[in-house]
Amino acid sequence: MDRNAPVGVFDSGVGGLTVAREIMRQLPEERIIYFGDTARLPYGSKSRDTVIRYSRQIIRFLRTMDVKAIVIACNTASSYALETVQAETDIPVIGVINAGARTAVKSTHNGKIGVIGTEGTIGSGIYTEVMRKMRPDIKVYGKSCPLFVPLVEEGLLHDSVTDEIASRYLSELKGKYIDTLVLGCTHYPLLRSTLRRLMGEEVTLVNPAYETALELRSLLRQQKLDRPESSLEEEKYQFFVSDLAEKFTSFATAILPGQVKETRKIHIEEY
Ligand code: DGL
Repeated sequence: MDRNAPVGVFDSGVGGLTVAREIMRQLPEERIIYFGDTARLPYGSKSRDTVIRYSRQIIRFLRTMDVKAIVIACNTASSYALETVQAETDIPVIGVINAGARTAVKSTHNGKIGVIGTEGTIGSGIYTEVMRKMRPDIKVYGKSCPLFVPLVEEGLLHDSVTDEIASRYLSELKGKYIDTLVLGCTHYPLLRSTLRRLMGEEVTLVNPAYETALELRSLLRQQKLDRPESSLEEEKYQFFVSDLAEKFTSFATAILPGQVKETRKIHIEEY
């Protein structure tokens, strides 16, 4: 496998850009092919079988771009599809759940952790399972926040509607005296300032993206797949979506460090 090959990163939409952004920061020499499945979003309310089918199609597309490793930058797809696709794929595939769970377990003092995510992620109970394996006495309180993804996709990151909805969702968790809250959906770090204000400074907010990037770095090093260096002229990042490329491009430009020049639309159902 070519060390200069790109890393494939995918999500149902713009949320996975929070993970891509972290990979760009921590592994600046790596090339990235990002795919956002904007035509079929949200994944959070879909069944396990559907999310596995979508993930397989995306992985087939990414393989046509000769990626050397894949990051499932979506908690829902990580919850439902990671094990299945790992078993079928001969390049490394990682998700975001283990990284988020590990960080939360390390950070809690009182052993009470909240997790917010899509209906799929919270319903799967995967965070509880993974964190309890790491520390059996931990108490995990999950809360699904289905309206957060459309709010983020609509760009309503700082809006009174978002505030109102967030305060309803979080009131239940506030009563549990958690000291750590996992942002268990890659869209949610974009609502960080609202979540921080509502939860208060004493609650640690965990964004699994940071640890996921570190995990990717050690995996690439271990397998001698890390890219030695990059040149300044190259187009290091490429973006693909299944719908509405222009909207995605302006969103990506707003949250990524550099200007995103182009996003290409592909027909993902053909893969
Ligand atoms: N960003 C995704 C996640 O981390 C899912 C959003 C959705 O499509 O429902 O779960």
